Formats: sequence, structure tokens, C-alpha cells
Amino acid sequence: MRHIFSALNRYRFAVIIALLLTLTELAVELVQPLIMARIIDQGVVQQDMETVLFWGGVMLILSFAAFGAGIVNSFYAAHASQNTAYDLRNGLFAKVQSFSFANFSQFPTSSLMTRITNDVNQIQNTIFMSLRIMLRAPLLVAGSVIMAIVVNAQLALILVLTIPLLVVFLVYLMRKAGALFKQVQSRVDRVNNVVQENLTAIRMIKAFTRRSYETERFDGAADELRVKMMRTFRLIETTMPVILLVMNFSIIVVLWFGTTGVNTGGATIGEVVAIINYITRMSGALTVFSMIIMIFSRARASAERIGEVFEADVDLKEPGDPDDDALLFNGEIVFDNVHFRYPGTRQSVLNRLSFTVQSREQTAVLGATGAGKTSLFQLIPRLYDTDGGTVRIDGKDVSRMPLKSLRRQIGYVPQETMLFSGTIEENLRWGNEEADENEMIQALKDAQIYDTIASLKHGLQSTVGQRGVNLSGGQKQRLAIARALLRRPSILLLDDSTSALDAKTEQSLLQAIRKYSCTTIMITQKMSTTVRADNILLLDEGELVGKGSHSQLLRESDLYREIYASQHAVSEEEGAHE
Ligand code: CTP
Ligand code: MG
Repeated sequence: MRHIFSALNRYRFAVIIALLLTLTELAVELVQPLIMARIIDQGVVQQDMETVLFWGGVMLILSFAAFGAGIVNSFYAAHASQNTAYDLRNGLFAKVQSFSFANFSQFPTSSLMTRITNDVNQIQNTIFMSLRIMLRAPLLVAGSVIMAIVVNAQLALILVLTIPLLVVFLVYLMRKAGALFKQVQSRVDRVNNVVQENLTAIRMIKAFTRRSYETERFDGAADELRVKMMRTFRLIETTMPVILLVMNFSIIVVLWFGTTGVNTGGATIGEVVAIINYITRMSGALTVFSMIIMIFSRARASAERIGEVFEADVDLKEPGDPDDDALLFNGEIVFDNVHFRYPGTRQSVLNRLSFTVQSREQTAVLGATGAGKTSLFQLIPRLYDTDGGTVRIDGKDVSRMPLKSLRRQIGYVPQETMLFSGTIEENLRWGNEEADENEMIQALKDAQIYDTIASLKHGLQSTVGQRGVNLSGGQKQRLAIARALLRRPSILLLDDSTSALDAKTEQSLLQAIRKYSCTTIMITQKMSTTVRADNILLLDEGELVGKGSHSQLLRESDLYREIYASQHAVSEEEGAHE
């Protein structure tokens, strides 16, 4: 709630105006039954036409005033609610941008999306409604009771007894509905999650003909949402009959005692009509109130969910040493007794990892699937922090460097290529906004993808992704390499990026990368890569089991010889088939 109020606080001027205007509307509504009583008692009963016309005129003018106030109020309510929602959304987005990888495993993507869209919408609607009617409904109830007492205290006694009971009932309901709505929002998350997974994996689903399975999964999630929604609304719907029952009962009591009162002189007809008028207004206000409860409980659930994102602890702390900002890496990387496991898991992924990668060398990291190669990479640009030991670049602990200057100098080509929808040029510039066309062409050539791009109808301006050209997995990989090269990084990390290349192209690529004289580490499964590397790190189940050059490892490591023999056997077999 705190975040919502501080966002709303910026528009307090609009909020105050809107609230003052609701008070105008409220005053008119409360005065009307009084005027009605006067018209009846002094005008109608005494057959005084002049009084009827005068007070009738006053009522008309007041109604117009209330109408005008309502329109201006809507304007300011919309202003405050829309702007608050806009600020909240931007705030959430900025917060999510600062998230570490660990934060992302805390909030699934689909849940973040629901929070930034749906939950903020709930808040926006609630602020609008609050400024329009939320304050008016309870004040109308309280004001009606007070006015009824002013008109005739005896007859109003029944209201003094029943209204507090109803209010207690409504507050209880609000508590209960709040808890239910929190569950509803998490079911919305689940539906979005299934949709998101399906849309991203639609090719897989079709290839595996899993459509009916996925449809069932969606049905399941949608059905859970429906059931939760229904249960919540059923609870809320019980309010209306209860309110009407109590209020109608009050009307009967007022009429009963009112009739006696008129006969004995304890009340006038106008007073009875006025009080009944107040009761009907109150019934209306209480019904609106029960609707508000629904909206408000939902908003409270949403506000909590939004608060969770704002309060998420971004565990990667930025050390603020601006002196380092200009620092350029020489590129020596040292792992010193590094331990690592993913946050929230117990299984350790990297153990006692110690090695040095010399500046400007090409190092290959070889290891079976699941050995921890990608995990090792992620520690260098500090996508995760180590659990023990340090990672140092040029002798300086990465956790003491400003993230921005650290990451700016690293070109990271992840295992799964990520291109954004847009042109090829835009995707390249994403690596380095200042790059000119010549630099882009050079980077594409070095990444061995220029010919492919040049042959496209629109060249660099071709769009990729939805409704654009579709590149193969290997082509995307090389485009991602070009994007990383364009950064002119001091350190280049290639996670299995050359797996799709034939030996000759791979050799040209590695040769071209040498020109950039950056420290290069490449994860690979292929001996053809390790043979050409200056240095090899052999990783097995999170431990370093060998390091050195190809010939050195062939001599010293059984595992390396084994891998070499198996790949050799395969390539000889392939050769025999040709
Ligand atoms: N792991 C994990 N949580 C993740 C990613 C990985 O717990 N988000 C664990 C996996 O169970 C795996 C180990 O970390 O056993 C190492 O994973 P990774 O470093 O990704 O292995 P790679 O060597 O990169 O494997 P591959 O060649 O298949 O990419
Ligand atoms: Mg990997």
C-alpha cells in the first residue's frame, strides 16, 4: 500500500479537488430530503403553491450544481488514477530491469507480466472509483444517519441500532474477500503462464503433437480461475440481500412508529417521508459500498503483489566506485577456489574451481552436458555471485566493480541465442549503439555471417523474428557473435556458439576473433575447437579435472584422451561412410 500512496501523493492536488467535489455532491444529496420535507409540510399540506415553487427551484439549482461537480470530479479522478498507474508501471519496469537472475527465479515471467499489467489496472480502477464514489458512499451513510436524527431523533433511533451492525458485517466480508482475491490473482498468473509457455514453444508443441495435452492444461488453469472467481463473487453477492432485508425492515419500523407519531403529534408527514428517503438513499449507498468492497479487496491483493516486486531484495549490490568506471580491462581472469550453487538449491554446481586465463588468449572449456560450463560463465559478468572464493579480473574482485563498467567490457554470447524483433541493424546496435555501418559490416564478416545477410533482399534492414526473415539456429548464433564483437569487448565469452559451424568456418571465425585481441573463452563439445585453443580447461561435474594445451592434456588426462578417442572414432567412421 505504501508504494501506491506515495505514487498517488504526486497527484495530491487532483485528489484533493476530486474529493472536495464529491463533498459538494454529497451535501446536495443530504440536503434534498430536508427540502422535500419542507415542501410537503409547509407547501403541500398547507396548500402554499409559492413555497412549493421556491423550494422546487432551489432543488433544481442544487441538482445542476451536483451534476457539474460530478463531471469535473470525473476529470480529476481520471487524471490522478491514470497518472498514478503510469508511474507505478514505469517504477515496476525499472525495478524489474535491476533484478538479478536470482530475483527472476523468485518471480516467474508470467507473474511479473500480470503484476505490471493486470494488477496495476486494478489499482487504477480503484483509485478512480475511490475518488468518484468510495468516499461518498460511507459519508452518505453516516450523513444520512445524522440528518435523520436532526429531522426526528426518535424515528432515527432504529438506524442508530442497525447501521453499526451492517458496517461490522461489511468489514468482515472485506477481509474474507481480500484473501480470496489474492488467490484469484495467482490463478490469473497461472493462466498467463500456460499461455506464455505455449506461445513461446508453439513449434515444439506442434512437432510433438502435444496440442490436446496443452489444451487440457490450459483448460485446467482457466477452470481453476473460474472456480475461484465464482467463489469470491458468491461471497460478495450475499451482501446485497442482507443489506436490503435490514433496510426494508427499518422502513417498516419507521412507518409503524411514524404513523403513530403523526397521529399523536410526535412527527410530521414530511419528517416521516424525509427519514424514509434517507433510508432508501442509505440502501443505495450500502449496495454501492458492497461493490466497493469487492473492488477494494481486489486492489488490496494487487497492491500487495505490486509491493512484493518493489520490495524484492536485489541481492547483487552495486559497489559505487566511480573511479573504476573508466578503467579498461587488460583481460586476465582468475578463479580462486570458487564454489557455486544456484540460489534456492542445495546441489553445488561448481567446487573448488581455481584457474587463470591469461590476457588475450583463447581458452576452450570442455566438459559433458551438465558439467557446469554455463554456470562458470555466468560468474564472470556477475549474473550470479559466487558462494565462496573470488572471481578476479586484472587482480580485482568482480564483486567490487561497478556492474556497468564490468559488463560493458564483456561480450557474452549465451547458449540460447536471443534476438529481438526488429531489423538486423537494430539487433547489432543493441550490442553497441554508436557503431557505424562499416563497423557493423566488419563485425558480420568476422562472425562469418556477412554473405548470408548481404544476400537477403533488404540486407541489414531485414527484420528478424515475427513476420520477418527466419534465420537458422546457426545463423542466429553468428549474428549474436557479431553483436558481441561490435562491443569491442576486452573479454569475449562464447557459450557453445560455434557448435553449428563446420570446421573450416569455425577456423576462420576464431582467426578473425584474434584480431580483436580480447581474452576469449569458448565453451565447446568439439575437439576441433580445443585443438586450436591456446589453453583448455577440462570440467567434470563442477570440478576442474585438467588444464593445459591440447598436447599436454593428451599426455596427462585420461578423460581428455577418452573424449578425443571417441570423437576421433566418430569422424573416422563418418570418413569411412563417405
Ligand atoms: N542448474 C541449476 N539451475 C539452473 C541451471 C543449472 O540448478 N538454472 C544445474 C543443473 O542441474 C546442472 C548444473 O547446474 O546439473 C550445471 O549446469 P550448466 O552449467 O548449465 O551445465 P553446462 O555444462 O552448461 O551443460 P550444457 O553443456 O548442457 O549446456
Ligand atoms: Mg551450458
